[in-house]
Amino acid sequence: MAKKKTILDLYKMKEKGEKAVWVTAYDSCFASYAEKAGMDMILVGDSMGMIVYGYQGTTPVTMDMCINHCQAVRRGAPNTYVIGDMPFGSYHESVEDAVHNAVRFIKEADVDAIKLEGGIAVEDKIKAITQAGIVVFGHVGLTPQSSAAMGGFKAQGRTTDSARAVINDALAVYKAGAKFVLLEGVPEEVCSFVHKILPIPVYGIGAGADTDGQVLVIGDALGMFEAFIPKFAKKYADIAGAATQGFAQYVKEVKEGVFPAPEHKYKISGDVSEFEKLFKEIEEDITL
Ligand code: KIV
Repeated sequence: MAKKKTILDLYKMKEKGEKAVWVTAYDSCFASYAEKAGMDMILVGDSMGMIVYGYQGTTPVTMDMCINHCQAVRRGAPNTYVIGDMPFGSYHESVEDAVHNAVRFIKEADVDAIKLEGGIAVEDKIKAITQAGIVVFGHVGLTPQSSAAMGGFKAQGRTTDSARAVINDALAVYKAGAKFVLLEGVPEEVCSFVHKILPIPVYGIGAGADTDGQVLVIGDALGMFEAFIPKFAKKYADIAGAATQGFAQYVKEVKEGVFPAPEHKYKISGDVSEFEKLFKEIEEDITL
């Protein structure tokens, strides 16, 4: 079992040019598979809103949902660096709220870091959370919590004006004290430039290959979520197909009397005739 990584290990990986790989997970089972597979980090993303809860987006996700899922992931992956994702509304109203909720992730769910979306707009929150001694991942570019303001889940930084805004957000996040930056849904050129100018690890999702590592959403990576498949996603397994096929077989076997078979049944301990006697006695006495 690999030793749990620290922020220092992740910085050393950047120095050596070794890519860090992370994925989202929301429960103990999948977190344990990610840990066994050698994942460097797990993000308990607010994408749980779509994948676990069936919402259209991430904004309905609450702090309590995130804490519960972070606790489950921590139990499933005790030796993996876990990042808690601050949900919409948990850091938007005040700096005090932001620090209070970031602290909840550490105290109640034993995560290693938190992630929050936004750049210049959340500088003061990142600064305060960092000053509380909590490691912050900044998330800029396509930020799903503000997808309504962006006109949907749209790539950012495709024009020079938009690229300037993404770069300024990444710089703001770094200057505010974030120890890591995640760029989502931007052209590779923009990500590459941010990667070149920032001294901290820069990770990407839909941001090309010139990064210190990649993250994928589990629903996309394992083919569990079919409502919307982003252009940048790659499917490494077909969980939806395997699960549907498995369930269909189960339905068929129960209906046909194939399951349960002898090997799935408990055996009587003692003499069968004693049981037959008992059943007869009860049947004679019974009034329904
Ligand atoms: O919540 C999430 O899954 C994310 C990913 C897009 C990285 O923030």
